[in-house]
Amino acid sequence: MKANLAKRDMSIVLAGGSTPKIVYQCWNQIPFRDFICWNTLQFYWGDERCVPPDHPESNFKMAQEAFLEPLKIPSHQIHRIRGEDPPDKEALRYGNIAEKLFMEGRDPGFDWTLLGIGTDGHTASIFPPSLSDSNPKTPCIVATHPETGQKRISLTLETLNRSKRVSFLATGKSKAEIVKQVIESSKAEIYYPAARIQSANGILEWYLDEDAACLLGSAY
Ligand code: 6PG
Repeated sequence: MKANLAKRDMSIVLAGGSTPKIVYQCWNQIPFRDFICWNTLQFYWGDERCVPPDHPESNFKMAQEAFLEPLKIPSHQIHRIRGEDPPDKEALRYGNIAEKLFMEGRDPGFDWTLLGIGTDGHTASIFPPSLSDSNPKTPCIVATHPETGQKRISLTLETLNRSKRVSFLATGKSKAEIVKQVIESSKAEIYYPAARIQSANGILEWYLDEDAACLLGSAY
């Protein structure tokens, strides 16, 4: 029996990349599939590649296949970034969606934001060294992947930081060094966008596997 305890829907910002896929797939497994009140959740994205929703690199497609489709989450609960649309136009549209949510709900920000981290310290699609782009006046920007040149649409650090809870997900030895730098280095904020995630309104946490956590001090 599902106890619907939510007074209003809960907004969840999904992370992109490959790491979160295992989490999303778990949501479609027992007990989560039956335990979570799916009809009280509204799904957003922290960033999207500027590709169509059926493109192999689409963050929406990954989530759709992992749990949105299997759990038959209705479209009115899914607020994807339209990677197929002109980037500037979509950044404006999605930024307005975020602002409307914050104003409507009279809430400071999203309820829960999931983020990944790149080995260069980027998160969502806020890449170093363009930290100047990470705090513009708009809640959502057009970014360019520094290696591939791929255009991305991304919520800004300021918008992400308005979340009540932010959970970083990182796995594998390749992330161990950047995880250590971002968590332990006092200078991390200068170099790494991920280090500027502070969750002004609540909880900042890391979900790491042993490999990604292997360089952290004994305090963790
Ligand atoms: C994206 C993500 C990006 C991702 C990191 C880690 O669209 O790619 O928003 O920030 O979380 O690059 O990616 P992996 O999980 O694939 O290592």
